Amino acid sequence: MHVVLGVSGGIAAYKAVLLLRLLREAGHDVRVIPTDAALRFVGAPTWEALSGHAVTTSVFEGTESVDHVRFGREAELVIVAPATADLLARAATGQADDLLTATLLTASCPVVMAPAMHTEMWHHPATVANVATLRERGVTVLEPDDGRLTGTDSGPGRLLDPEAIAAAALALVAPRGPRTGSLAGVRVVISAGGTREPLDPVRFLGNRSSGRQGIALARVAAERGADVELVAANVEPALLPTSGITVTAVETTADLHHVMTDRARTADVLIMAAAVADFRPARAEGTKIKKRADKTMIELVQSPDILRQLATSATDGQVVVGFAAETGDDSGGVLEHGRDKARRKGADLLAVNRVGNGRGFGDVPNAVVILDATGAEVATAEGSKDDVAAGLWDAITTVRNGRALVSGGDGHPNGHPAPDSTILR
Ligand code: CTP
Repeated sequence: MHVVLGVSGGIAAYKAVLLLRLLREAGHDVRVIPTDAALRFVGAPTWEALSGHAVTTSVFEGTESVDHVRFGREAELVIVAPATADLLARAATGQADDLLTATLLTASCPVVMAPAMHTEMWHHPATVANVATLRERGVTVLEPDDGRLTGTDSGPGRLLDPEAIAAAALALVAPRGPRTGSLAGVRVVISAGGTREPLDPVRFLGNRSSGRQGIALARVAAERGADVELVAANVEPALLPTSGITVTAVETTADLHHVMTDRARTADVLIMAAAVADFRPARAEGTKIKKRADKTMIELVQSPDILRQLATSATDGQVVVGFAAETGDDSGGVLEHGRDKARRKGADLLAVNRVGNGRGFGDVPNAVVILDATGAEVATAEGSKDDVAAGLWDAITTVRNGRALVSGGDGHPNGHPAPDSTILR
């Protein structure tokens, strides 16, 4: 495969050398296109020797073969690592002032960017907006790692390990053989992980969801032949599937809302397995919030209920599935809250599980009760997260088969036929 490896000017450029080796060892033809600033960190001879191609940053070389257009057109995959704040800004605004940005404008293949910068730069509203723009246009912008940065600081902004970048990028272009199985031809979109709402450059409101249950659902769906997209909210890169599943990374509830709403136009099955922050800070401060003598309240605003919106606007035949993570409290038990939530959300299926005190989150067994939109129990599933995923897919398949049997609508609030719990049982 023809891969373009774009390298922009950050100290993490040295890690792109290892990424180049990995891609070459996997048998790919890699053309490295650094920026001028990148060459201040790692010189052209290194890139040339390891890639086997001459290296330039300029659109004024190779003019006889119109290289600034050719490299993008020939590429089957473009990876930019590290992608600095400056590179993200130039790409988002469609600039073409060097060979890398010109190539990004001519590439029609999947493009993956692995950002690296200081945390303040990553959380700056300008960068946040540039990342959102790029994602909207279909670029896969990976979430950077959280860890030690160039100076004494640490936080989100560290370049992902070369192995994780290679895995995420190659997964996007993994060959997909003809699909067989009970979900062949079915387009499935699954959210996983937990959203994060920035408070300031170093803090966020978040939750403990690892994304494992959503990933298991994605894996089982792919095994059963579905065409699967995983919308991963802050999922540890090492957990992400490496082949056969498209991964789209998101950070905030707003990002997730945007992607899910977009995918709802074409998906056959939508699953909200992500733990979504219901509230976000009214504003993310541009600088670190300081400890003050007076206690300062954080003003919160409510985020949209994505599952409810997806269920309300579901198209005919589309199946919408949610999760309810409950602890139970004085006002009711886990199942009671689950039934109430099933009716409020209106999803075709709601998988209710007990969380907290070592249950539900992380690498632990899970058990769910699956309810329909009326709160009636249609199935249970328990065991590993793969076992639960298999049980949930069985229930989803039953709903889909039931739909195929039912002719005509019968007043389901979604505008599609009501799930028939006798068929489901
Ligand atoms: N969900 C969503 N959008 C939100 C909140 C939750 O799409 N703003 C989805 C979750 O992905 C999950 C389901 O709704 O599939 C239930 O999430 P949960 O956090 O259990 O419920 P909440 O809606 O937050 O309700 P409550 O706070 O009353 O528990």
